[in-house]
Amino acid sequence: MLKVQHLSKFFGKNQVLTDIDLIVQKGDFMTIMGPSGCGKSTLLYQISGLDRDEYEYGEVFINENSLKHLSDSQLSKLRLENMGFVFQKSQFLSDLSIVDNIVLPALQLKKQKKKRIYQRSYELLEMMKISDLAYSTIQQVSGGQLQRANICRALINEPSLIFADEPTGALNSQMSQEVMEIFRKLNEEGKTIVLITHDSHIAAYAKHILFMKDGRIISEITKSTDTDFRNKIEKETKRLGI
Ligand SMILES: Nc1ncnc2c1ncn2[C@@H]1O[C@H](COP(=O)(O)OP(=O)(O)OP(=O)(O)O)[C@@H](O)[C@H]1O
Ligand SMILES: [Mg+2]
Repeated sequence: MLKVQHLSKFFGKNQVLTDIDLIVQKGDFMTIMGPSGCGKSTLLYQISGLDRDEYEYGEVFINENSLKHLSDSQLSKLRLENMGFVFQKSQFLSDLSIVDNIVLPALQLKKQKKKRIYQRSYELLEMMKISDLAYSTIQQVSGGQLQRANICRALINEPSLIFADEPTGALNSQMSQEVMEIFRKLNEEGKTIVLITHDSHIAAYAKHILFMKDGRIISEITKSTDTDFRNKIEKETKRLGI
């Protein structure tokens, strides 16, 4: 589904990613951990095509398409059709209601009638148990509710791949767990998830964990084959000072 080969990234002279190789299989649930500034967000932006750079060093493939060789409009279509994004901070527009924010990526894609798009967004709001907030503004809802709404927006075009950058970073532990249960359910339903977190409890929801340091992937833990999965996460987290 997603393949990264020899990806490096520089900001000016500052090398932020070094020779990253990575494969995410369909149905995987991967978390990426690492100390602040080690390049996690930069990696996510690169592999999801959000940072439309020249991919000067290395290559990223999504469903066999090399992002390098897509035009801007092809990349934008690929992203809208296949990917959903959830970030720590909401990207919602403050002058629109929750539901009007959620439908935006679908209106952009122009594949379905407006009525059907709104219908789907009400279904998603229901699924996330926030239907009563459809016409609230973002100032009127809690952080946890807003994050659920963000997940609704990420799902509006029924993407197969979901990227999340510290989606629980602004939430308390109760709300974080609720949000992670939603990600777990989405993964069980077949969505592929790549999620960044600082929190070892959050990381433990995943099937795979990649650890980064100074722009490199330095270790990996797999739930199905590594016994003592949770302890290993704790150990690696401590070792890296995350
Ligand atoms: N647009 C940019 N221009 C220049 N340098 C940048 C830019 N974005 C990130 N960097 C630098 O790249 C490095 C990695 O940043 P990145 O945001 O990927 O780290 P991170 O692992 O996500 O950290 P955090 O856990 O704090 O979110 C940092 O040194 C940062 O200062
Ligand atoms: Mg980051």
